[in-house]
Amino acid sequence: MTETGQIPALQLEQVVKKYTVSGKELTAVNGVSLTVWTGETVAIVGESGCGKSTLVRMVTGIEPVTEGSIQVLGYEISAPGKKFSRQEWKALRRKMQLVLQNPSGAVSPRMRIDKFLREPFVNWHLCTREQVDSRVEELLQRVELDKSVLHKFPHQLSGGELQRVVIARALAVAPSLLICDEPTSALDVSIQAQVIALLHRLRKEQGMTVLFISHDIALMGKFADRIAVMYLGNIVEILPAGQLKNAVHPYTKALINAVFQPEKEDISVLEGDPPSPLDMPSGCLFFGRCPVSCPDCAVKSPELREYGRDHFVSCLLAQ
Ligand SMILES: Nc1ncnc2c1ncn2[C@@H]1O[C@H](COP(=O)(O)OP(=O)(O)O)[C@@H](O)[C@H]1O
Ligand SMILES: [Mg+2]
Repeated sequence: MTETGQIPALQLEQVVKKYTVSGKELTAVNGVSLTVWTGETVAIVGESGCGKSTLVRMVTGIEPVTEGSIQVLGYEISAPGKKFSRQEWKALRRKMQLVLQNPSGAVSPRMRIDKFLREPFVNWHLCTREQVDSRVEELLQRVELDKSVLHKFPHQLSGGELQRVVIARALAVAPSLLICDEPTSALDVSIQAQVIALLHRLRKEQGMTVLFISHDIALMGKFADRIAVMYLGNIVEILPAGQLKNAVHPYTKALINAVFQPEKEDISVLEGDPPSPLDMPSGCLFFGRCPVSCPDCAVKSPELREYGRDHFVSCLLAQ
């Protein structure tokens, strides 16, 4: 607990993930440090390929870290030399739930929705057998789905309905931490807003901590409490979601402007692609695409430094 009484739900310290691709080293996550406090919603935003899903796979224990440490709900899940026992995983899995982009990957195609939603209550002995039906109905109400879905198979539901089913199942165990990796990206635009609104209401009702991965900074500005902007495996800015207009990093600004005001002339709209994570440049990683860089940026690597209250920036021009 900190001086202000906040308890961290998730703590990442200098987390690095490297893969070997055709004999070359690929740096997917390049030393990420981030704390998510209990009860808050933090969004990680950034373009495709910047390492968001890799981070999620490490936080959920699907993959080990290469370097650094991760604490989730008080459990040290990865630190050098640390082995996590099965019992510890079981306890943690119940408190931490994951919702991914593609709901059809989460539900067996041959399983009726009824069975899928009953499973957590039965497997975790969350209630008596007699209570399971009413608990499943309660879940459906919370995600605003009709009981008629229970007799259907996954392919008989729309993508939006199926994602609601997956969210319902995640909520069955009353998780402390919900991790969503682009949960609306595979859905129609009109359905996306509904699912986001649903998650917004549910996290308030349940008092859950939420780590939300998205490439849509404007949407996260409305949904999250804080936003961490990721670029090429690094967090380049962390700021309160309500303060997006005060963003400092040129990359964050470009992401915001690309969404909000594409017609405006005096602002940068992001051009080109990020460098390859197989060949990380020296100096600032955003140098090649930055509209305001100075010669130092080509050679000096900026650190994530405190810029203002709850605001951290990694840019030589902001230090
Ligand atoms: N299992 C893997 N093996 C090799 N490279 C990977 C693997 N998983 C991800 N990568 C690479 O790591 C980088 C980050 O990927 P990812 O975390 O999926 O990004 P995002 O979720 O932000 O789109 C990409 O360059 C991707 O190609
Ligand atoms: Mg991803």
